[in-house]
Amino acid sequence: MAMKVLAQKLERLADLVDKQGCLYDLQEQTGQRSSSDPVTYEAHRLNEETRDHGREISKACRELASQVQDPVETLIEVAWSYTSSAALAVALDLNVFQNLDPGETGTPIEQLAKKCGASEGLLKRIMRLCAHKSISEEFAPGRYRHTRASRALLDEGTSALVQYLVEDGLRCGAYLSETVRENDYQILENRYRAPFCRAFATTSDFYEYYALVDKKRGAKFDRAMAGFYDGIWDRPQEVIFPFHHLPSGATIVDVGGGRGQNSFRLGIRYPHLSFVVQDLEIVIEAAKRDANVPSSMLNRLQWKTHNFFDAQPVTGADVYLLSHVLMDHFDSDCKRILRRLADTMTTSNSRILIHDYVDGEKLVSQRSELADMLEIHGISCQNTRFRSISEWKSLLDESRKGLVLHNVWEYEGGAALMEVKLEEL
Ligand SMILES: C[S@@+](CC[C@H](N)C(=O)[O-])C[C@H]1O[C@@H](n2cnc3c(N)ncnc32)[C@H](O)[C@@H]1O
Repeated sequence: MAMKVLAQKLERLADLVDKQGCLYDLQEQTGQRSSSDPVTYEAHRLNEETRDHGREISKACRELASQVQDPVETLIEVAWSYTSSAALAVALDLNVFQNLDPGETGTPIEQLAKKCGASEGLLKRIMRLCAHKSISEEFAPGRYRHTRASRALLDEGTSALVQYLVEDGLRCGAYLSETVRENDYQILENRYRAPFCRAFATTSDFYEYYALVDKKRGAKFDRAMAGFYDGIWDRPQEVIFPFHHLPSGATIVDVGGGRGQNSFRLGIRYPHLSFVVQDLEIVIEAAKRDANVPSSMLNRLQWKTHNFFDAQPVTGADVYLLSHVLMDHFDSDCKRILRRLADTMTTSNSRILIHDYVDGEKLVSQRSELADMLEIHGISCQNTRFRSISEWKSLLDESRKGLVLHNVWEYEGGAALMEVKLEEL
C-alpha cells in the first residue's frame, strides 16, 4: 500500500516537473527568465507562476523524502539546520561566491581559500555544507562551481537579505525558546522582552539598537530591507494598486521608507508622481550618501528625516505608504502612527496604503512556509505577529473614527495591500 502511494506521488511529481519545463520555456521566450525586474503585469504573473510551481515541486519532493527517509534522520536534519545557516554566514562574510569562477570549470578549494583569506581546512568544511544545500556544487574533488542559488547571491540585495537572516535572524532564533519560556509562552506586547534583546544582550529594542547602538549592523539591516519585501514574499505594490490613476503631480509619502526601495520602483514606472521618503535620521543620512537614486527621479524625490510618531509634515498627500511598517509595531504604537496620518489626510484625495500581512487560518498544506517563517522571525526580533482582517479593521477604527478599510488585495502567504480612507463623519 505504502509503495502504491509512493508510486502515485512520483507520478504526480513527474507531471509537475514537466509543467515546470514548459513554464521555463515560456519565460525564455518572453525574455523574463533571469530578470528580477519584470516590467509588465503578465511577465510578473509568469514569474510568479513559475516560482509557485517550483515551490509545489519542492514541497512534493519533501513529502516524498519524508516517506522514505529514516524518521530520526529527518528530525536530526531539522534540528541541525542551523549548521547550514551558520556555514552560509561564514561563506557570505568571506565573499566566497564573488570569488568563485563564474564559468563551468569552477574554482579549486586551495585557490578559493587563498582568495578569501581563509584556511583551506575551514573553507572546505563550509563549502561542503553549502553544497549539500545546492548553494554551489562540488563537481570534481575539491573543485566548486556556481549553482542557481549561489549565483543569486551575487545580487547585492539578495545577499544582504540572506546575510541578515543567517546572522541576526539565527542569533535571535537561538533565544526564542528560552525567552518565551520566561514569558509564560505568551507573545508579550513588550518589545524589550523579545528574544532579540537577549541575543544582543541589550536593553534597547530592535530599531533602537540598529539606529543607536550598533550602527554598522543597522546599515546592514537597511540594505537587507531593500531586498526583502518585493520579491519572494510578496507582490510589489505597483502590480496591485492602480498608481497610474493618480493625478499628475500626486505625492506619495513613503513613511518608514528605508532607503527608498519602494519609491524608486514606483518612481521609475510612474513619471507623473513625486515622492517623499521619510525615515529615522541615521537611515536617511545613509540613503542620501549611498542610495542610487534613479536619474529620472532626481527632481521628484525628497529625503526627509521624520519620526513617524511625530506630526506628519506633508499634509493632504495623495498616498501615505506604510510598507511593512505596522507589522513591526504593537497596536498602541500603530494607533499613534495612524493618528498622525489621519491628522493630515484630506477626505477628498488622501489614502493610506498599508502593505503588510493578514493572518489567515488556512491549512498548513495551503500555507506559505516562508510567511510562517517570517512570523517566527517577527516574534524572535520584536514579539510581533500578523493581524487578522477583523483586527486590522478594529485597529483603524480605534485609531480614528472614519478611518476605514476601503480595499484589500490579499496575496498568498498572507501578504496584503490595504487601502485606507478617511470618511466624513
Ligand atoms: C521593515 S522596514 C520597511 C522598510 C520599507 N518601508 C520597505 O517596505 O522595504 C521598517 C522601516 O521603518 C523605519 N522606522 C523604524 N522606526 C521608525 C520611526 N520611529 N520613524 C520612522 N521610521 C522608522 C526603519 O528604519 C525601517 O526603514
